[in-house]
Amino acid sequence: MRRIPEPELMESEVQAQAYAQADFAEPHQRFIEILQSSLATLPQEGIALDLGCGAADISIRFAEAHPGWQVEAWDGSAAMLRYGHQALEQKKLQHQVTLRQVYLPSPDYSSEIPQLNYPLIFSNSLLHHLADPAVLWTEIKKQAAPQGFVFVMDLLRPEDQVQAAALTDRYASEEPSILQRDFFNSLLAAYQIDEVQAQLQAAQLSDLAAQIISDRHFIVWGQLR
Ligand SMILES: C[S@@+](CC[C@H](N)C(=O)[O-])C[C@H]1O[C@@H](n2cnc3c(N)ncnc32)[C@H](O)[C@@H]1O
Repeated sequence: MRRIPEPELMESEVQAQAYAQADFAEPHQRFIEILQSSLATLPQEGIALDLGCGAADISIRFAEAHPGWQVEAWDGSAAMLRYGHQALEQKKLQHQVTLRQVYLPSPDYSSEIPQLNYPLIFSNSLLHHLADPAVLWTEIKKQAAPQGFVFVMDLLRPEDQVQAAALTDRYASEEPSILQRDFFNSLLAAYQIDEVQAQLQAAQLSDLAAQIISDRHFIVWGQLR
């Protein structure tokens, strides 16, 4: 099945609200656990960059699990970031997580966007939104410190729409219809593992490994040279 792109930014209020109020506890906690086991030599402290942070649920989970780390969390959608600010306030983590409205690719020169040679960059479910997937890999190269750690997770595109519908049924049937529709569309917009491997090679990021970890997810992980 050919990839069917979906809009980049999740800017609609209804969509942002549905996403922010959904229960992603299980998959997002799993993201943190797989990040930790994949990057076992991660230092105790540093500044991490979360690309396409959405409503910041993963930024917050990472911050809670890693009190020595600060998190810079970037997303282009004001609607998603509004929910992120609410979540940060509830958790009282404003001192540890900074949300910023940044549309990727980030501008080369901006006094408002800290470009800090981040020792860790992570991202969940951003890649399949991007019109040009190279944007993610180029941003990672631009923002990462030498020997920086990288962890990316995203959806895998199934073979056909029948499989996409079956996955939606299996994993999202309890969700509101707007989330079921988003999940189905995201599966159609996702990349297959050989496409991701080709993207990494084109970006000269072959030190990163790409691996399928479930019937609907892959990870890209490693340490840059
Ligand atoms: C599916 S959500 C994932 C949010 C979050 N990482 C999570 O796992 O909950 C994808 C996010 O990427 C953002 N996004 C898409 N394209 C972007 C771009 N070019 N620059 C910045 N953010 C982008 C969207 O606005 C949306 O919030």
